[in-house]
Amino acid sequence: MVLFRSLAAASLASIALGSPLQLQARQNASSPCAQVSASVATQTSAATPTVPAKLAYDCITSVPFNKSAALALLDGVAPYFRWQSNTVWLKDPPEEYAEKVQPPVDIWGGLEDIRAKAEGDEFDNEFAFGFELYTLLQSTHDGHFVFIPDSVGTVFNWARPVPLVSVSEDGKELPKPFVYADVLAESFGNSSFAPSAIAKINGVDALEFLEDFAQKGSLQDRDALYNNVFYELAVVSLGPTGSGVGTFAGSGRGRWQYPGPTTELEFENGTSVTYNNYATVLIPFDGITDGESLYQKWFTGPQPTETTAETPSNSSTPTPSATPSATSIPAPGYPPPVYREEHNLIGGYYLEDDYSDIAVLSVPSFVSLESAEIPFQQAAGKKKLVIDVSANGGGTILQGYDLYKQLFPQGIGHAAADRFRAFESTDLIGQYFSATSEKLPRVYFEDPSINETLYELEYDVVSSVFNYQTDTDVNGENFPNWPAKFGPQEQKGDNFTNLFRWNLSDVLTPWNSGGIYIHGYGNLTNYTQPFAAEDIVVVTDGYCASTCTIFSELMRQRAGVKYISLGGRSKEGITQAIGGVKGTNNFPWDYIQALAQFTITNLTSSTEEAAQLNTTELGQYWDSVVFDRMAANTAINVNFRDGIRDGDESQTPLQFVYEPADCRILYTKEMTVDVTAIWKAVADSAWGGESHCVAGDLGGYGKRRVKREMSVEERVLSRRMHQWRRDLSAQDYPLDVYTDLRGANLDMNGIMWP
Ligand SMILES: *[C@@H]1O[C@H](CO)[C@@H](O)[C@H](O)[C@H]1NC(C)=O
Ligand SMILES: *[C@@H]1O[C@H](CO)[C@@H](O)[C@H](O)[C@H]1NC(C)=O
Ligand SMILES: *[C@@H]1O[C@H](CO)[C@@H](O)[C@H](O)[C@H]1NC(C)=O
Ligand SMILES: *[C@@H]1O[C@H](CO)[C@@H](O)[C@H](O)[C@H]1NC(C)=O
Ligand SMILES: *[C@@H]1O[C@H](CO)[C@@H](O)[C@H](O)[C@H]1NC(C)=O
Ligand SMILES: *[C@@H]1O[C@H](CO)[C@@H](O)[C@H](O)[C@H]1NC(C)=O
Ligand SMILES: *[C@@H]1O[C@H](CO)[C@@H](O)[C@H](O)[C@H]1NC(C)=O
Ligand SMILES: *[C@@H]1O[C@H](CO)[C@@H](O)[C@H](O)[C@H]1NC(C)=O
Ligand SMILES: *[C@@H]1O[C@H](CO)[C@@H](O)[C@H](O)[C@H]1NC(C)=O
Ligand SMILES: *[C@@H]1O[C@H](CO)[C@@H](O)[C@H](O)[C@H]1NC(C)=O
Ligand SMILES: *[C@@H]1O[C@H](CO)[C@@H](O)[C@H](O)[C@H]1NC(C)=O
Ligand SMILES: *[C@@H]1O[C@H](CO)[C@@H](O)[C@H](O)[C@H]1NC(C)=O
Repeated sequence: MVLFRSLAAASLASIALGSPLQLQARQNASSPCAQVSASVATQTSAATPTVPAKLAYDCITSVPFNKSAALALLDGVAPYFRWQSNTVWLKDPPEEYAEKVQPPVDIWGGLEDIRAKAEGDEFDNEFAFGFELYTLLQSTHDGHFVFIPDSVGTVFNWARPVPLVSVSEDGKELPKPFVYADVLAESFGNSSFAPSAIAKINGVDALEFLEDFAQKGSLQDRDALYNNVFYELAVVSLGPTGSGVGTFAGSGRGRWQYPGPTTELEFENGTSVTYNNYATVLIPFDGITDGESLYQKWFTGPQPTETTAETPSNSSTPTPSATPSATSIPAPGYPPPVYREEHNLIGGYYLEDDYSDIAVLSVPSFVSLESAEIPFQQAAGKKKLVIDVSANGGGTILQGYDLYKQLFPQGIGHAAADRFRAFESTDLIGQYFSATSEKLPRVYFEDPSINETLYELEYDVVSSVFNYQTDTDVNGENFPNWPAKFGPQEQKGDNFTNLFRWNLSDVLTPWNSGGIYIHGYGNLTNYTQPFAAEDIVVVTDGYCASTCTIFSELMRQRAGVKYISLGGRSKEGITQAIGGVKGTNNFPWDYIQALAQFTITNLTSSTEEAAQLNTTELGQYWDSVVFDRMAANTAINVNFRDGIRDGDESQTPLQFVYEPADCRILYTKEMTVDVTAIWKAVADSAWGGESHCVAGDLGGYGKRRVKREMSVEERVLSRRMHQWRRDLSAQDYPLDVYTDLRGANLDMNGIMWP
């Protein structure tokens, strides 16, 4: 079977596949873990049992630290860290990045520090060690650079039972945090109820508390991180592929941060409310009597397979069924769609009444769009297009290219140029992949059974980035050989390959694109541009990462489309629209391991040659410790490729380039219950009479919208929209949406998992 790429999906796919818990009551309740076990045993009907946050913390921190195992894990991660493209830039970032975005991080130095502490037995428990390793990677704010140790992510996820929103009273005043349930109550319930903003959290100024907590997230931009703390409709619409109800309430990266036993909110009206924080229990606890037995069963080797899946439900209380039905529900706060991909991964909408000349393309993900030939033809008669990429953690790189090429079929066909670290492992793999490919034709075929051997070689080797024939150089020419692609070029004391680009005319494109050819190439050349650039505007909440940033580079740099950023910290001024990792390709660690092993075992011509290759750096990828010690149902990645903008003499990876949006719009309460309020504010600011920009502006951009007669269809749609809005109630806002991804294509190379 096809060896590579699909590996990335395995861990996430298993999220959907839970098995019922087999629980037995535990007698010994004297240790915290025994108490967890006893509590779980009584929750037989819950899909995901919960325990008080403090109890979970006491249990996980009672797991003893094992020095020799810790040192083995630290040795195990090192070969994979080498693949991270930007360690020298993280250590020494541009001044503007350090000032406005994030401080420097020394990955290799940090790893040494952890090793020294482990050597000195300075960790009180296994969790303290695991969490320090987790935090080293998290502190890079590179959403592609992730390793979640078992002690951090296998057993518990923490949460606060109170999702918040950050909203401006009138769209002009700086935003304040509110309890989301209060905003729902005001919107749909008691009209005389006016919620009070949160003034303090656990005794600390609320804004300060929330900005600090935001820093625990995976994004780099601080305003995007701030938005990610809160409940947001676009994020919720993604169900388990999104970061749920916000990090404050334990979604996304919030799930790995112990929030303390309670959360006290003090409101501006003087009232205080204390909430009990909790942890969801992700594994069966039968047989676990204490931290030691938890260690023996879960942290020593390959993990038991019967992990309880985290099965996000569409209700605020866990549903009793461990195997949820395979249907997906529409997203809360989204209107009736014109077109909606069944997992909410993409949707088309029209607005009503005065806005009926506007089409909206909601693209919260680039995962599995292969079915999504966007029906732009249908949008005939619509004059303007709002593209909402809020919550978009990426997906398949070439799906981002294709959406751009559907909009601009004649547009320039490359975003930034790519490069990766040039070192022994990448050189050797490139030499072997290139040599093998030179002996094979470059042919695409859909049916593997025609010739299994050839199919696998074509899919795994010939179409790979390690075959120099796959990409073009920066002049659009083919590389003559592997050394021409490999370089290396020296920068900041590290080595990188020469710059290269995707060859979108390549016959093997479907194997890199999730099954499609790109519009504008091959036999897909006869397309007309559906909208003028000035009739398109893109809006984002800053949570635009990976493939979404490649799409955005194309839209902004190539097509000149304007970008609007939403929300952000309670501070004046412009914010960035693109706040997630701008690396142009992630590599799962198991893919790296497979590349190395495959090169040794399958691409050598004799056992002697294999044995010789096994003595090089490529022989350092046999150990399974990182896979044994990663948290169940998590994805581990490095950022493999950097994007370098055309003409950037300094060759700064885009990750470190600060890029203000063209306009910033603040969230209002209405925007947290009705997504069309966002789209209307965007349309007004771009083409209407009224700018909602609190910073930046789109002045002189496009023409003013003119009132026009609605067609019969538009009147019907408008009535449907009014009806939808009238029928909304607080019950339409479950705290999580279950989107079943079984059957979806999770074969992705440009994604940041939440
Ligand atoms: C600690 O880890 C080592 C493996 O490095 C293992 O052999 C040993 O049994 C572990 N110790 C305990 C007490 O579990
Ligand atoms: C509506 O809210 C006001 C103010 O919070 C409260 O006094 C009143 O009892 C509420 N009415 C209902 C029907 O809940
Ligand atoms: C103060 O505001 C909070 C949050 O909106 C609300 O729950 C509480 O009932 C209010 N207290 C009073 C006394 O109105
Ligand atoms: C109960 O747990 C404690 C603390 O972990 C342990 O020392 C004791 O041996 C356990 N007793 C039984 C009967 O399992
Ligand atoms: C959750 O979604 C399922 C499937 O669409 C539906 O049957 C169920 O009623 C929903 N539950 C809630 C509480 O909304
Ligand atoms: C399959 O492809 C390989 C590699 O090109 C070739 O050597 C072999 O003869 C092919 N097998 C068949 C049955 O065509
Ligand atoms: C970079 O490559 C040059 C030439 O191959 C080599 O001499 C040097 O040691 C490399 N530097 C690093 C940091 O790997
Ligand atoms: C791109 O791919 C096509 C088909 O695989 C190939 O013919 C062409 O030489 C490649 N390079 C360029 C620069 O188009
Ligand atoms: C383009 O070519 C591919 C592969 O040859 C074929 O499957 C597809 O149907 C063609 N598409 C069009 C629009 O002709
Ligand atoms: C290309 O598109 C034009 C306009 O849509 C159409 O008239 C023409 O027949 C198309 N040509 C081909 C070769 O498909
Ligand atoms: C690699 O080689 C082994 C045996 O030599 C074979 O079983 C396996 O299928 C090969 N893998 C691929 C992806 O071709
Ligand atoms: C390579 O070396 C490792 C030990 O470092 C060994 O486990 C593995 O079997 C060797 N593989 C080959 C193909 O020689």
